[in-house]
Order: sequence, then C-alpha cells, then structure tokens
Amino acid sequence: MKRIILKNLFAQANEFTGKEVNVKGWVRSVRKSKAFSFIVLSDGSSQDLLQIIADDNIDNYETLSTMLTGTCVSINGKVVESQGKGQTIEMQATGGEIIGEVDESYPLQKKGTSLEHLREIAHLRARTNLFGAVFRVRHELAQATHRFFSDRGFFYLNSPIVTNVDGEGAGEMFNVSTISKEGFKKDDKGEIDFSNDYFGKETSLCVTGQLEAECHALGLGAVYTFGPTFRSENSNTKRHLAEFWMIEPELAFADLDDVADLAADYIKYLIDHALKHCDKELKFMHSLPFTDVEKNYRDTLKGVVESKFKKITYTEAIDILNASKEKFEFPTNWGDELQTEHEKYLTDKHFKSPVIVTDYPKGFKAFYMKQNEDGKTVRAMDVLVPGIGELIGGSQREESLEKLEARMKELDMDLENYWWYLELRKFGSAPHGGFGLGFERAIMYITGMSNIRDVIAFPRTPGNCDF
Ligand code: 4AD
Ligand code: MG
Repeated sequence: MKRIILKNLFAQANEFTGKEVNVKGWVRSVRKSKAFSFIVLSDGSSQDLLQIIADDNIDNYETLSTMLTGTCVSINGKVVESQGKGQTIEMQATGGEIIGEVDESYPLQKKGTSLEHLREIAHLRARTNLFGAVFRVRHELAQATHRFFSDRGFFYLNSPIVTNVDGEGAGEMFNVSTISKEGFKKDDKGEIDFSNDYFGKETSLCVTGQLEAECHALGLGAVYTFGPTFRSENSNTKRHLAEFWMIEPELAFADLDDVADLAADYIKYLIDHALKHCDKELKFMHSLPFTDVEKNYRDTLKGVVESKFKKITYTEAIDILNASKEKFEFPTNWGDELQTEHEKYLTDKHFKSPVIVTDYPKGFKAFYMKQNEDGKTVRAMDVLVPGIGELIGGSQREESLEKLEARMKELDMDLENYWWYLELRKFGSAPHGGFGLGFERAIMYITGMSNIRDVIAFPRTPGNCDF
C-alpha cells in the first residue's frame, strides 16, 4: 500500500475518508485498554498528529499495543471520521509492523522536557511537536524569501564562504587554514607568513556576502544572497550565533528610502506568509509558556502587516531615550551605540511596533556606508522589532571612490585587499544599497521563540560546536 504523509491526509480528509492507507512515523504514545489500543503517531509533516485505533483482533496486535514511545512504525488502516473533538479524521488500524525499535532509555518521553535539555539532544529534537513546528516555519520562511525577491526581479547570488576580506571591518572572523599553528613561519617583521598556506594568503569564513553582492548588483541590477554567515564575536546571548543565516539583498540605483521600503515590505511578506501557511504552528507556539508573546500574537502580527513602519533618525532616537524616565544600564549620549535595552525600549515601550532608525554616527558603523554632508553621520538604517531589537542592518553605500578610500584609510584598512571593491567605484559607479536580515531573528520574531539556539537546527555558539 502506498504511504501517505499526514499533512496530505489531513488536507484531503474528505477524499480519504472510507479508504485504506498506509502511514509511517514515530509513536508518540500508546494507551492500551482491554479490547483495543489508542496509538498517536507523528511523521513530522504536520502539526496535527494521527489518532489510530487498533482493535485486539488485528494481526500483530500484541506488538502494536505494547510499542514504546519513539518506536518507528508502519501502519495500515481505514480512514474514518473522528469521534474525538479537534480532529477531523482518525484511523482504524488493520495491521502494521515495527520499522525501528527503541528502548526505555529513549529521552523523549511523554512528559515535557526542558529546552536546555533538548539542545543537548539536538539530534532527536526534530521529533518533538515544538521543533517540528519551528522547522516547518523555518522552511516556509525560506521559501517565502526566494519567492519575494524573485518576484521583484532580484537574482539569487551564491556569494563565497571563504574570503580574504573582512566585509564588515569588525575583525570578528574565523580563520581558514590547512596549516597547524606550529607550521606557520614568521617573516622578518615577526608576522605570520601565510604564503605557504592553502590560498597563499590569510583567509577566513565570511561575515557577510555584501561586498560581492554589490559587485553583482552593479551588473545584474538587483541580487540577493541567502547563506551561512560566521562571526567570532564573543556574545553569549539569546540573539547571537557564531554561525547564522543571512539574507542580503543589494539594489542598484537606490537610496536609503528605497532600501528601507524594501526591508519593510520583506518583513511584512514573511509575516503574511507565515500567517497563511503556518497558522497551526504559530497558534501552538504562541500559546506556550516559554514563548515571549501573548496568546493572540497572531493578531499583533496581522497588525504589523497592515501597518506603515515608523522611521526616525538616530538623533531622534537618542532624544526619545533621554526624554524617557527609564533607567538604562548603558549611556545614551549622542555618539553612543544603541544597546539592546535601548532598542527594546523603542520597540516594546515607546512605539510598540517595528521602527526603522536611520543616519547613525559613523563611529560605530561600517566603512562602506554613504557619508552624510554633516561629516558625522552615515546613511545607515537598522530595523528594530518588538521582543528582538535589531532584525535588519543596512545602508546606502558610499559610491564615491575618493570618499570611500578616505574613510578606509582613516580606519587603517589594507586597501590593497579591497582593490576590486574600490574598482566598482572607479568603473561606472552608481548609487546603490541593501541590507542584511538575520534569518534566525526573523524566525524568533514570528514564532515568539526566545532563544536563538532553538530556531536553528544545530546551533554554534562560543564553546559549543557539537553535532
Ligand atoms: O548589521 P549586520 O552586521 O549587517 C551586515 O552584515 C551588512 N553586511 C548587511 C548588509 O547591509 N548587506 O548584520 C545584519 C543582521 C543583523 O541585523 C542581525 O539580524 C543579524 O544579521 N546578525 C546576527 N544574527 C545572529 N547572530 C549573530 N551573531 C548576528 N550578527 C548579525
Ligand atoms: Mg548591525
């Protein structure tokens, strides 16, 4: 008999009612009574689980009715209308067999397990209701991302992972090398000589695909990347990973307003898609005690889709913070970086909505951002969202060769490494800009999950690289 996945079975419940089908999956629970047993089955394809009733006269009854939680099983049966509430259909088993056994040490027993413990058994957590939901939403948001940009004429660029430039100039890179530490020779100045390393120079994992995206935007017009990104920043927080996924659109003939509009449209599109395609998952997750959101959070998200995002300058943001009665841990003088507590004050308390902050002081922003006339600020923008803080960072790029070179020299950067990036400004330069959205933070924002380690399959954080 042909196997059907639960998602399709529930979606076409009417069609299947009265027919015999085969399902395969993992046993969530078995409740045995005298004449029959109740089996609850999950196959990962849907939030709904299948209730299966097995009468004691079917083949293999003794085996099926004594299966342990976690057993992998194949069951044949007739689809019937459900008697219980909440379910449309259930299955009347006609027979079945065990595919893979478990023993009592299987760690995912019926009772709730902590998220911390589930991180330690990340190889099994995809079998829980919660992580099934998280990863189905993650999948849908990835699909929606490609659809959004492709429909708007952006071409998908696979930017390199290994690189010899620091695209953010922040020095938070993981080295890539085939030479052990002892194998490195030092040159006359006492510096490590990389010339006999694999690439003949010092190389690292990328912190961004932006610089390469700029090259292609100034050729194809509009591109986006969607790939893994690596940062060795020592931030052990609920919002930082050493390996995360970033979406970076880059658009030619665009200014900061165009970039901000694109960012708002993209966020709304993601939310709308999730509401339409993952309603059950979101409802389930929003109602959990450890998600940071209220039960009717789907209504809040709907409101965001219909809203116009607020836009303020950094200077206005500082004024708002200073006018508030809040006691912040970090200072809020003009020129200070906005910390998470400041961002959360703006989104969660002041605006109670996403907000776009523009025109930051150049001092703590990246070298490539377009310099404003005032000589103090740059055409940067961050999109801040409730509960998370920074979801997106972006900017209009400096298109003048002279100004870009001057800034890079000021920051003591090695211009030779960036010769190709500078040539973009020498040959047919154009105003352009883009942004980066942290994919995991978007998933956190929409699902309400409060720790970034729980929205990526196998998290990498300082001191942790298991699985
Ligand atoms: O603000 P960031 O550093 O911007 C860039 O990388 C630019 N090159 C983007 C661009 O203009 N093309 O990072 C962008 C976003 C942040 O807003 C945040 O959501 C996410 O990436 N992010 C992280 N997410 C998880 N863990 C980390 N360590 C992250 N660092 C940044
Ligand atoms: Mg940023």
